[in-house]
Amino acid sequence: MVKRRIAEILRSGQPDESLLIQGWVRTKRELKGFSFIEVNDGSSLASLQVVMNQDLPDYEAIIKKLNTGASVEVAGVLVPSQGKGQRIELKAETVKVYGEADPETYPLQKKRHSYEFLRTIGHLRSRTNSFGAVFRVRNACATAIHQFFQERGFLWVHTPIITASDCEGAGELFNVTGFNLKDIPRTEKNAVDYAQDFFGRPTYLTVSGQLEAEVMAMAFSNVYTFGPTFRAENSNTSRHLAEFWMVEPEMAFCDLDGDMDLAEAFLKHVFKYVLETCPEDMEFFNQRIDDTVLATAENIINNEFQRLTYTEAISLLEKADVKFEYPVSWGLDLQSEHERYLAEQLFKKPVIVSDYPAKIKAFYMRLSDDEKTVRAMDILAPKIGEIIGGSQREERLDVLEKRILAQGMKPEDLWWYLDLRRYGTVPHAGFGLGFERLVQFMTGMGNIRDVIPFPRTPQSAEF
Ligand code: 4AD
Ligand code: MG
Repeated sequence: MVKRRIAEILRSGQPDESLLIQGWVRTKRELKGFSFIEVNDGSSLASLQVVMNQDLPDYEAIIKKLNTGASVEVAGVLVPSQGKGQRIELKAETVKVYGEADPETYPLQKKRHSYEFLRTIGHLRSRTNSFGAVFRVRNACATAIHQFFQERGFLWVHTPIITASDCEGAGELFNVTGFNLKDIPRTEKNAVDYAQDFFGRPTYLTVSGQLEAEVMAMAFSNVYTFGPTFRAENSNTSRHLAEFWMVEPEMAFCDLDGDMDLAEAFLKHVFKYVLETCPEDMEFFNQRIDDTVLATAENIINNEFQRLTYTEAISLLEKADVKFEYPVSWGLDLQSEHERYLAEQLFKKPVIVSDYPAKIKAFYMRLSDDEKTVRAMDILAPKIGEIIGGSQREERLDVLEKRILAQGMKPEDLWWYLDLRRYGTVPHAGFGLGFERLVQFMTGMGNIRDVIPFPRTPQSAEF
């Protein structure tokens, strides 16, 4: 008998077809002489209704085992459904129960559970409608990202997770060590003796693959990384994770305008792809999570993003008729309330803010002729705030060295990065997209912990 996925059956299944499905029971309804179960295999939001007649061998014993959460295999014939809500259903001929789920203890019973509660059962929450939809959309976003870059001839490069450099210079690094923490070798001056550690030097989990992506762009012109990044920033917010995925394209022979153009085309492509490939899941988010999700997606696809400089943004914020918690003045970084005011209230669409003060941005960003600002850009999304951060990179050796020193870093630690400016340097630019913030933006999910299967946040790394 042919085994088929439920999404495919619901899409194209025809009455009289014989087939076999495997999945988990979502609900059971017992009636006189027959019963219904809804089976879900994760391939779609909708489950397949299975009808079991009492003349099925071992009917009573099987029905008793088919509680919510149990795993089953059903072979049977598709028939037109008499009931509302589905076109076809599967009339069971044989039912095999793989594993039961005790209704007294299985935590996912048929009722709405809060996301807070579901986070405490991270090993089971993917079996709910919401998380099913989230992780299918997450998968579609990832596919769209690769498709976008591959179609444009970008090479997917794999940058290291263990690194010796702090790309963002923000000191939010997790240490990586092979030391036994109960017995750390010390130098004569009682400092940690890293020479004896696994790599013979201090190492960390990467905060960004950018520096290595720049290396690869200086050989392949256009590249991108897409992998996990780590930040030991103690922010307990709905938009921060300690482990998150980042997409980072890097382009040689490209300036900030080219960078912004790429970022805008990129976001439009991903939204379009997801609307086309996950209409049912997106409809679900619009109905259950945030009724602006579909309108937002259309808005992204069809309208140009608003572009303005940091200086212009500050003057708009100074004129704003709302009271901000944090002060606004030229030279201070934008806080999330400011970002959201611009994107959500003022322009009602994504906003690209460029040319930030050099003092508040990373060492690698290209200094402008005014020597006060750098060629940086952030894309701010309604409800989320910063979703993309990028810049044109400083390609001039002498200026870069000065910027590194000014930020209290040592040029010799970045000798290989500086070599890129010694040998065949070119103007180049890139950006980083926070993948989970994109999925949040796409789905309307309020908390970033609910768009990654296994969130890592301060005091939490259970599953
Ligand atoms: O703005 P960030 O720090 O930029 C970089 O890391 C650059 N090296 C990127 C580049 O130019 N190649 O981070 C990029 C994006 C942010 O805009 C945000 O969307 C996301 O990464 N991000 C986080 N997402 C979840 N949790 C966190 N703690 C995040 N920190 C940054
Ligand atoms: Mg940033």
